[in-house]
Amino acid sequence: MNKLSYFRPAIDAMSGYTPGEQPKLADITKLNTNENPYPPAPGVSEVLKSFAADKLRLYPDPMCTELRHTAAGLFKLDIENIIAGNGSDDILTMIFRCFTDESRPCACLEPTYSLYPVLANIQGCEAIKINLNEDFSLPDNLLEQAERANLLIITRPNAPTGNSFTLPEIEQICAEFKGIVLVDEAYVDFANDSCIGLVKKFDNLIVSRTASKSYSLAGGRLGLAMADVQLIDGMMKVKDSYNVNALTQVIAIAALRDQGYLKSTVEKIINSRNRLTAGLIKLGFRVIDSEANFVFAAPPDGDGERYFNQLREQAIIVRYFPGSATGRFVRITVGTDEQIDRLLEFTSTINLGT
Ligand SMILES: Cc1ncc(COP(=O)(O)O)c(C=O)c1O
Repeated sequence: MNKLSYFRPAIDAMSGYTPGEQPKLADITKLNTNENPYPPAPGVSEVLKSFAADKLRLYPDPMCTELRHTAAGLFKLDIENIIAGNGSDDILTMIFRCFTDESRPCACLEPTYSLYPVLANIQGCEAIKINLNEDFSLPDNLLEQAERANLLIITRPNAPTGNSFTLPEIEQICAEFKGIVLVDEAYVDFANDSCIGLVKKFDNLIVSRTASKSYSLAGGRLGLAMADVQLIDGMMKVKDSYNVNALTQVIAIAALRDQGYLKSTVEKIINSRNRLTAGLIKLGFRVIDSEANFVFAAPPDGDGERYFNQLREQAIIVRYFPGSATGRFVRITVGTDEQIDRLLEFTSTINLGT
């Protein structure tokens, strides 16, 4: 007889999220999890060096007051419009807890960041998947498809595809959708524009950000959400009390304050992204126009999995997403120029059906 499970049926039925691998091997070219190849701002090292271990005896500021002040100055918002999280995954968890349940579905794009359906499963809410067009643009009937949802997630730029959507499209969605619109801007510092300016205009809009990509702080874990005061107040009720640790609060402040450094690393990554895109196109790849720190590229023979494995044999690790819309592609994080050269040089030596 099967032993009765202690778990809720929803948890037994779901698979957990599969994070991109973090191989320990030396000498690999790691282009699989959209980390930043450059170090965090110099101020971060200084803060780390001068941080007194004794401070760790005390709980951190549960409200992240100074950090939110810094972010408020940066985004031209009030501190009451901002909440901080242990990475933007924590922000996403709060949002699912606040706005979804068995009778309040969420809607997200397909393909998109694969954590959303996992959070939906945990919450026991339906995840309505809105198929993107063949070129990964938004479908005309998006709002119709999302109608039953209480939470609509637009990832902009999208992952793993890298393309963005226009601001007028987002404005129209915010104006017409009856529930909460979450614009996940994890990659927005590499993009042409942001939705942050719409936060004051729409009381149903939440914009989320992360320090993991453009600020090189994936290991530090900081996410932010910006929204109308009432939404932030509600999210404060569900967050873990001390969700951002003391060390992260101070290093994140140092990182956010150094916008010059941010600009310089973002610029380097965009230049490398352009080189990578041009190099792959020259080799016959289809490359989706990227506004992120990665490119989504299909080899000429359309066999993304084979190319992924060929790269892997050379210790070049990228990400492959099986599936009808994604299986022809691989997602390549924009690394340093040396890493990009290594990938392009190897790719030019293999037969990919051109
Ligand atoms: C679209 C998107 N949102 C959010 C995240 C989570 O970022 P973090 O939890 O590191 O802030 C990621 C990470 O890859 C992502 O791709």
